[in-house]
Amino acid sequence: MTERSAMTDSAKRLMGAIESRSAVVAVMGLGYVGLPLVRAVHDAGFDVIGYDVDSSKIEDLREGRAYLKHPGEDLFAILSDSEYFTPTNEEESLARADVIILCVPTPLGEHDDPDLFYVESSARSVAQHMKPGALVVLESTTYPGTTREVVLPILLEGANARGMELELGDDLFVAYSPEREDPGRTDKTTRTIPKLVGGLDEVSLALGSALYQSCVDEVHETPSAEVAEAAKLLENVYRAVNIALINEMKLVFDRMGIDVWEVIEAAATKPFGFQRFDPGPGLGGHCIPIDPFYLAWRAREAGHTTRFIELAGEINRRMPEYVVSRVSDALNDDAKHMKGAKILVLGVAYKRNVDDIRESPAAEIISLLRKRGAEVSYHDPHIARFPSMRRYDIALDSVELTGEALERCDCAVVVTDHDAIDWHLVGEHAPLIVDTRDAITKNAGAVRARVVKA
Ligand SMILES: NC(=O)c1ccc[n+]([C@@H]2O[C@H](COP(=O)([O-])OP(=O)(O)OC[C@H]3O[C@@H](n4cnc5c(N)ncnc54)[C@H](O)[C@@H]3O)[C@@H](O)[C@H]2O)c1
Repeated sequence: MTERSAMTDSAKRLMGAIESRSAVVAVMGLGYVGLPLVRAVHDAGFDVIGYDVDSSKIEDLREGRAYLKHPGEDLFAILSDSEYFTPTNEEESLARADVIILCVPTPLGEHDDPDLFYVESSARSVAQHMKPGALVVLESTTYPGTTREVVLPILLEGANARGMELELGDDLFVAYSPEREDPGRTDKTTRTIPKLVGGLDEVSLALGSALYQSCVDEVHETPSAEVAEAAKLLENVYRAVNIALINEMKLVFDRMGIDVWEVIEAAATKPFGFQRFDPGPGLGGHCIPIDPFYLAWRAREAGHTTRFIELAGEINRRMPEYVVSRVSDALNDDAKHMKGAKILVLGVAYKRNVDDIRESPAAEIISLLRKRGAEVSYHDPHIARFPSMRRYDIALDSVELTGEALERCDCAVVVTDHDAIDWHLVGEHAPLIVDTRDAITKNAGAVRARVVKA
């Protein structure tokens, strides 16, 4: 723990401003992660600048229009009325900030390698405008070493180009603190999820920790930024590998005529040593399908292969194909074939109760069904339009879920088990249901339709 007496005047000043809540905090990237963070920092009493390159988001925030459901629709009204929140797409505003937190995307490149374009460009914007004595925190998920090897040099070089000779720990402070948002979850918020913080040096850690302690209930300080970066990836690798394991178990038990969900129900009664994971139609979202490959890439650089990650990726990515083959078999049992079959996909978001289609397995499933000649429509109460995406030419609008719509289809395929879908209606009117989430058994019980679990 750094004694205050050992800190530079710059560090003491910033610590004082954090403790008194007079520090101005800028959040860069106002998406699924940045917006809930804005709420936590604003609620803690800080003056917050919300900066995003997407001007439509800034306009919506000014007008109080909700563009995401997950942080709570009341947030948009609260922020648009608040004199302590300034949404902006002008980089120059960052000059006013004492603390700048980066919540920008970290996608994969074409060959599953890290694409740090957004991290690098946002760090460059910070470097052009930050004042001496600022704390910069990276929250984006990334491989161990990014904060020290990528972000810090950009900040130092940018400051240098402006004639500022900054020293880490003296008048520039840099930390990493991973976001652990789980969109759709209602029992935990940014405030109640414990926050990891790792500094590039001890003073940065002390300042980062003080900042988050003022906004969230529990802060865990890690010995370095690299440990915090690695911990976030471990959490997501753990999920990806366990989901792959249970997806593989689904295929194995299916061959044996055993229902995997019944097996899980039974195994989950063990009070220790077993954590429940549920199978599904494949991975989705911005994290689990992507983050493990950040670690795999870094491991390759360090001369190591990550066999679990590669295998989990392979199994999880094959799930949509398995679902489509089950649809094909189920139609065959009804003396129908895929070509020309009317298929209604239920739920296209990547998981239940969210309005996010990023990396959703629904895209691959719809494409494969279409390739085999099916006429596909979909219903999702949270996704009014499924646009064409980088790799998928979908372009469909959600259809209304009615008894007639269900009776008209040859097969309903459950991809996402949203609470807002009327599962009784589905069970009573669809002739055939291929269910990848066990949604019918869980939500409707015994039904008239023939249900095939996949
Ligand atoms: N979505 C999740 O559930 C989740 C959970 C934990 C961690 N993460 C991680 O958090 C990070 C952000 O993810 P997200 O889901 O919030 O992404 P998002 O796409 O919802 O939001 C990112 C925002 O950053 C903005 N942006 C891009 N470049 C910018 C720049 N140079 N300056 C300012 N703003 C810029 C985009 O316009 C967008 O509004 C990623 O690294 C992700 O892996 C996401």
